[in-house]
Amino acid sequence: MVKKFRIGSPFDTEAVIEKIEISDTKDFPLGLSLGEKAVLKFNIEKDDMIFGLGEAVRGINKRGWIYESWCSDETNHTEDKRSLYGAHNFIVVSGKEKFGLFVDFPAKIEWDLCYSECDEVKITLDGKSADFYYIKGKNERGIVREFRRIIGKSYIPPFWAFGYQQSCWGYAKQEDFVNVRENHRNNNLPLDCIYMDIDYMERFKDFTVNRDLFPDFKAFVDDMKANNIHLIPIIDAGVKKEKGYSVYEEGHEKGFFCKNADGTDFECGVWPGIVGLPDFLNKDARRWFGSQYDALSDLGIDGFWNDMNEPAIFYSVDGLNKAMKKLDDIRGKDVDIWGFFGIKDALMGVQNSMDDYSNFYHNIDGKLVCHKDVHNLYGAFMTTAAGEYFEEKFGKEKKLIFSRASYIGAHRTSGIWFGDNFSWWSHILLNLKMLPSVNMCGFLYCGADLGGFNNNVTRDLLLRWLTLGVFTPLMRNHRALGTRAQEAYQFGDCKEFSDVLSVRYRLIPYIYSTFRRCSEEDDMMFRPLSFDYPDDKIAREVEDQLMLGDECMIAPIYEQNKNGRTVYLPEDMSFVKLSGENVKIEKLKKGIHYISVELNEVPLFIKNGKNIPLAKPALNTAELDTENLTYLL
Ligand code: GLC
Repeated sequence: MVKKFRIGSPFDTEAVIEKIEISDTKDFPLGLSLGEKAVLKFNIEKDDMIFGLGEAVRGINKRGWIYESWCSDETNHTEDKRSLYGAHNFIVVSGKEKFGLFVDFPAKIEWDLCYSECDEVKITLDGKSADFYYIKGKNERGIVREFRRIIGKSYIPPFWAFGYQQSCWGYAKQEDFVNVRENHRNNNLPLDCIYMDIDYMERFKDFTVNRDLFPDFKAFVDDMKANNIHLIPIIDAGVKKEKGYSVYEEGHEKGFFCKNADGTDFECGVWPGIVGLPDFLNKDARRWFGSQYDALSDLGIDGFWNDMNEPAIFYSVDGLNKAMKKLDDIRGKDVDIWGFFGIKDALMGVQNSMDDYSNFYHNIDGKLVCHKDVHNLYGAFMTTAAGEYFEEKFGKEKKLIFSRASYIGAHRTSGIWFGDNFSWWSHILLNLKMLPSVNMCGFLYCGADLGGFNNNVTRDLLLRWLTLGVFTPLMRNHRALGTRAQEAYQFGDCKEFSDVLSVRYRLIPYIYSTFRRCSEEDDMMFRPLSFDYPDDKIAREVEDQLMLGDECMIAPIYEQNKNGRTVYLPEDMSFVKLSGENVKIEKLKKGIHYISVELNEVPLFIKNGKNIPLAKPALNTAELDTENLTYLL
C-alpha cells in the first residue's frame, strides 16, 4: 500500500512512474510542519532500525548519524561525511511499526536519524514543495517491493557486463590496452571489458578520440571485440569550451548550457579546463546530449561510464576571480595565523562551492530554475539522457551505461558505481554495506572500484576485495593515476587471482539469473540479514554479511592479516569454499563459527534445500558455456 502526500507544487523529478492519487496531508501519519522549510518529525522506539539512503557512509542500519541528500564530488568516504555522489531519498523504518518513506524532492535534504535526539527522526527539506510517499507492507522486503513497483523496473545491462572488468586512469596508448588484454589472457585471468578514462580523448573533449594515440579507432575497437574485449570510454558532464569543437559550438548556439542570471553561459573549470555544463534538465538539451554518444557508438563502442556529473566544479570563473581578489588584498600585508587560514579557506572553498551551485540556472520549459533547487537531478538526467537514447535507438539491454551521480529514477536506464574510494580494508566493508541500501532504491547494476581507487593497493587487499566483487553485478578493478599498478597480473604469481576470478565466471549463470529476477520482480539482490530473520536478535545486528538472492549468504574477509573470520549463521547452512575448479563443502549448524579462508578461496553459504548452478571457468563471457551446468550441492 502506498499513499502519496503533496506539499506546494513540486518539481517533476520523474522518479515515480505509477499514477497515485494524492491524499489529504491531514492524514499524513508522520509529523509535518511547514515553516521556511518543510520538516518531518517522528519518534521511534529504542530498538527500531532505519535502512536505506542508498549510497552513504556508515552502517547498514543508518540510525545514529546525520546524512544529507546532496550529490557530492566527495573523494574521502570517511565516517564524518554526510553525503556521497547519489541522492537516494528512501528509508524503511523497522520496528514494531514498519513503513517506508520516499521524499521526492530534488534539492538538499537533511536526515537527522536519531543523531540530535536519540529517539527522534527529523527530516528537513531545503524548500516547501515535495511529494512524500508513505509505504506499508508485510515486512521490510515487501515494503521495498512496493516502493520499487512505483518507481519502475531496474536497468538490465548486456550479459557481457557481468564479466570481469579492468580500468585505470592512465591507460592512454593503444599498446596499454593491448597489454592489459594480453597479460590477462596469458596468465589465465578472465576479462570482458577494459575501460578508457579521460586519457583517450582529445584534450578531454567529450565524444572525441585522440587521433595521435588511436590512428584508426574503429579498427582498434573491432580488433578488441574480435578478442572478446569491450572498450568502455568515460564521458564527463562538462563540455570543453573550444573554438571549432562542434559539440561545444552547437550546445552554445542552441542555448543548451546552464546559464548565469544574465543569460550568458555559466562557465567553470573541470578536467578539460573551462567547460559549459549541458542543461540536462531541459528536455531538448537532454535529447541532444544523448544523441552525441553516436559519435562513439558509430565506431563500435557499446558501453559508457558517465562521470563528474554531480556536477563536480573545480572552480567557476567567478569564484576563482573572487578568491584571487582576496589574495591580492592580503598580498604584501603581514599575515597572522588567522590570515593564513583565511587564504587557505578562500582557495579550498572554490571547489564545489554552494555559491556556484546557487548561481547558475536551468531553462525548464522556458522558466529559469536555480540549480541549487534541482541539484540532485543533474547527474541522473545526464545518464537518463544517454540511457533513454540507447533504448530508443538500439533496444533494451544493448548498451552498458552507469553513472557516478544519481537520483532514484535513473535506476530504470542505468547502473551506478560508488566513486573514488581508497585502497583501505575498511572500504571493502563500506562496499558491502552500500549494496543492500542501493538495491532498496532500485540500483541493481552497481559496484565499487575493486582494490580501491585512491592510494596504493596491496596484493592481499586486492585478493580479498575481489572475493566480495565476485558477487557484485559490476565487477571492476579501477585505480587513480599515479597509484600502484593494480591489475591482477602485477603481483608475481597469478594463480591465486586466476582462482578467484574463475569463480566469478563459474557463478555468472547464477548471478545473472538472480539479477534478472530481482529486476523483473522489484526485489533486492542483496539484503541485510535482518530483512530475512527479523526475530533473530543476532541476525538483526549483523553488519558484515549479506543475504544474496533466495539461496545464499556472503561473508567476505575484510581485515588485514586474517586467515578467516567469525560468521553468524541464522540457520543451518552449507559452507562452501570455491577456488578455480575446486569446491570444498562443509555443513554448519545455526550459530557462530570461525571459518578459515585462504587468499584464493571465495567463501559462500548456501541454505539447506537450495542449490546453485556452476558453469565451467571461462576466459570471457563469450566463451562461457551457460548450457552445461553442474549444481553445487
Ligand atoms: C573521477 C572519477 C574516477 C576517474 C577520474 C578521472 O575522479 O571518479 O573514476 O578515474 O575522475 O577521470
